Amino acid sequence: MKIIMLGAPGAGKGTQAKMIAEKYGIPHISTGDIFRANIKNGTQLGMEAKQYMDKGLLVPDELTVKILLDRVAQDDCKKGYVLDGFPRTIPQAEVLDKALTELGDKIDYAIDVDVPDENIVRRMGGRRACLSCGATYHIEHVPPKKEGICDTCGQELVLRDDDKPETVQNRLNVYHEQTQPLIEFYQAKGVLKTVDGTVDMKDVFTAITEILK
Ligand code: AP5
Ligand code: MG
Repeated sequence: MKIIMLGAPGAGKGTQAKMIAEKYGIPHISTGDIFRANIKNGTQLGMEAKQYMDKGLLVPDELTVKILLDRVAQDDCKKGYVLDGFPRTIPQAEVLDKALTELGDKIDYAIDVDVPDENIVRRMGGRRACLSCGATYHIEHVPPKKEGICDTCGQELVLRDDDKPETVQNRLNVYHEQTQPLIEFYQAKGVLKTVDGTVDMKDVFTAITEILK
């Protein structure tokens, strides 16, 4: 099963993708997490990506596409995967489509987690992220057991550099300009499903599992 998560920054793509990955035993692949891990490890890719991410801009397709295609070619992706944060532009979607077509394969579902901009800005300020294992918390909705510490790996939680309010607004603008057109792209392919992302995260997940049945 090959699934794409669509939705604005902070819509809950990562939260839902993790639950899907666990329930269906497929890898959760987040290009944002891959970039953040590279930033943390001080790699060349990380340094390049950071210049864009901190401004709320997209990392250029040339850098992003190769990483993603290498990742989905790995053995653990044979039975499927859930992509979170990729594709984010029409050219990225076209490259993925072409790569899959060459393998006689296709995306099964593109799930749009729909949340209006007003809700997003409120959510982001409360998010705390673990840069070590990619776990995400929210100071009100999903607090860690011990304040500021990741339940999973014990590392310190941080407010992501790009979750500052002025950057969140930029990310939303970039989303509407460059990523939202993917909704029509996948609708035209007949694989688009939309879920209401404003309800409790458990209820969002229930709606998704109904679709994937
Ligand atoms: P990325 O890491 O993908 O960030 P994003 O798309 O901006 O999305 P977020 O991770 O911020 O939000 P999310 O939808 O995963 O929400 P979450 O589940 O955490 O990308 C970061 C940057 O990397 C980009 O800006 C770009 O520069 C670069 N990049 C990445 N991929 C790229 C690509 N393909 N091409 C080019 N550049 C790329 O939830 C948010 C918060 O809300 C959490 O605190 C969560 O606990 C809470 N929450 C979740 N669901 C609910 C709910 N139902 N109710 C209440 N709270 C909820
Ligand atoms: Mg995410």
